[in-house]
Amino acid sequence: MQANDDVVRSSTAPMIPPTPRGPASTTLFDVLLGHGSDPSALVDAVRAALAGTPDLLRDDDLQLTLFSLYELQYGGIEGVDDRWEWNPTLLTARAAIEERFEAELRAAVPTPELPAPSAEAVAQALFDLTSADGGPSVSRFVAKKATDEQLHEFLIQRSVYTLKEADPHSWAIPRLRGRAKAALVEIQSDEYGGGRPTRVHSAIFAGTMRGLGLDDRYGAYVDSVSALTLASLNMMSMFGLHRRLRGCIVGHLAAFEMTSSIPSRFYGNGFRRLGYGEDVTWYFDEHVEADAVHEQIAGRDLAGGLVESDPVLLADVMFGAAACLAVDGWAGEEVLDAWTAGTSSLRTTGSAQPAGSADSNGSATVRPAATQDAPSLVPEKHPLPA
Ligand SMILES: [Fe+2]
Ligand SMILES: [Fe+2]
Repeated sequence: MQANDDVVRSSTAPMIPPTPRGPASTTLFDVLLGHGSDPSALVDAVRAALAGTPDLLRDDDLQLTLFSLYELQYGGIEGVDDRWEWNPTLLTARAAIEERFEAELRAAVPTPELPAPSAEAVAQALFDLTSADGGPSVSRFVAKKATDEQLHEFLIQRSVYTLKEADPHSWAIPRLRGRAKAALVEIQSDEYGGGRPTRVHSAIFAGTMRGLGLDDRYGAYVDSVSALTLASLNMMSMFGLHRRLRGCIVGHLAAFEMTSSIPSRFYGNGFRRLGYGEDVTWYFDEHVEADAVHEQIAGRDLAGGLVESDPVLLADVMFGAAACLAVDGWAGEEVLDAWTAGTSSLRTTGSAQPAGSADSNGSATVRPAATQDAPSLVPEKHPLPA
């Protein structure tokens, strides 16, 4: 059956290699694809890039490097030997980026006030924090104003995380105990379809992409998204992959769930407004109900339960939630700024180079940020609204 084939394909295929965005990511793909560089050259390239960047969150080269290193821990990358996953030199390069990334996040994200370390107080503080978030609203724009092309862009922006939805938070499962572990597994069980592969949320989202004529293979659009969009996922991976940061990934998930249900209704309405059917809106409709339940479990049992059993994690739970709101807010602002200015929110992809290639100066071509001449993403034959 075609639908099941699609589900299996999107759940097993490694990522399509992205185009490097500077010296560090060029060196990484030279190493990974066997083009000659020694892994120690990556450590040097990363240190040089870190020394030269004024803003790691918005640094295309370093965010793509970190994103690609993390991908070795997830589904892997096409043409890359799986044994690179635990190469100590690559892990040294990753750690150098992570150290600075965490420091920049802790400096840039506003610190919320800490509640009492009880489950009820933590849940209330998280609900207060997320409901007070007055950031830009991509969901309201999608509901009321987005054009068909902007809906395509919206799915492309979301695809980097949503085609692997829930995976970064699953790293926390073996790092938790008791009430918090049971709560996380209860949420993740829904995210992974409760035993039904066609209901895995990432698979439903892949169907939404196909419904708009988009490529649902993982990595198909990584070249089109900004450093900040990569940073949003990199932050989740970093929080999830470090036991030390388990409070952060728990707080992140709580904030994520608490800011999903109402926006999902808006997103679904936006696609319905332009004539798309249930095959496309299913993903969003599913989250209106599911996340209204998940936010309660995540607030009280997951975040609250974790803090009650381990009060020292309180500050990181609140920081993880605040970081989710802040980084996703900045990324959303970037998209809305482009849309309200009448331009594409995507990076241009006109001069794509294969991964690992470099120009005569030894550095990769870095494509300009989105411009008005960005190629149209609306396929010629897509299900136009009736
Ligand atoms: Fe979900
Ligand atoms: Fe959820």
